[in-house]
Amino acid sequence: MPRIPARKENGFAWVTGASSGIGAAVVRRLVARGWRVAATARRADALAALAAESGGKVHVAAADVADAAAMRAAYDGAVAALGPIGLVIANAGIYLPVDGRRPDPDLYRRTFDVNLMGVVHALACALPDMTARGAGHVHVVSSATGFGGMPTSSAYGASKAALVNMAECLKIELDRTGVGVSLSTPGFVETPAQDDNAFPKPFMISPETAAARIVAAVERGGFETTFPRRFTWILKALYALPKPVYLPLVRRQTGWAGPGEPPPPTRSAAAKA
Ligand SMILES: NC(=O)c1ccc[n+]([C@@H]2O[C@H](COP(=O)([O-])OP(=O)(O)OC[C@H]3O[C@@H](n4cnc5c(N)ncnc54)[C@H](OP(=O)(O)O)[C@@H]3O)[C@@H](O)[C@H]2O)c1
Repeated sequence: MPRIPARKENGFAWVTGASSGIGAAVVRRLVARGWRVAATARRADALAALAAESGGKVHVAAADVADAAAMRAAYDGAVAALGPIGLVIANAGIYLPVDGRRPDPDLYRRTFDVNLMGVVHALACALPDMTARGAGHVHVVSSATGFGGMPTSSAYGASKAALVNMAECLKIELDRTGVGVSLSTPGFVETPAQDDNAFPKPFMISPETAAARIVAAVERGGFETTFPRRFTWILKALYALPKPVYLPLVRRQTGWAGPGEPPPPTRSAAAKA
């Protein structure tokens, strides 16, 4: 399988979900490595603070990733300011827990609009330009939750599994165009997204460590990077088990095996209960 590394000589990096957590840390890491960066998220004030901190190396391209027209305007503005695109890090994402006893279609719709269509909107802007030039790299931030089922994650996990499949499809198709495709499947990373998560979070790493892994991976050009490996490789081994073994094991490990009320997925839900 060919390695197609991201190279800053090919153009600027576009990072979505750049206003906090992993995305903001990726922007800082890329700037430190000499990249020019366009940063997208909804909170323009947080992006402006990141741009000020970078000494002018970050272009603010505020947009809701679920809005195709807003993403097109953000992309066109970034190209006008920074020239051709060399790298996309499609990172914006949300976790909305779903109670499987009362599945709420709005939670699934919102999750897929941001986590899946948000990536599609970024790629729909960048890939035609990259493939026309035969240069560039796109990186999709999925999750170890995308490997298989977890309680309360039937929307989030499904959207992240879809991203794994999407990245594999694109990798197969795009290798011959000279455009790289890669994927990350993080375990737990200490970001605002985890603030309200009531699940145990073994081997949680900092956003800076996650960003260092992602940036090193895209600059190396392989396909999948998963981290922290001491956690995600165990998960991969578990997911490889036959489902009659795996499913009861996860049920027991996550506290869903007992007869009473299942554990609340968020701290705020636990406080209300
Ligand atoms: N933290 C973890 O343990 C973990 C593990 C595996 C995978 N991940 C994935 O890593 C990615 C980053 O998450 P994080 O942990 O860094 O969480 P975070 O700190 O909450 O960051 C999420 C980012 O996505 C942006 N975002 C959310 N909805 C958006 C929308 N509609 N349009 C544009 N931007 C939007 C947020 O910005 P605005 O609110 O300003 O729009 C923010 O910049 C996500 O895809 C997440 O699923 C995280």
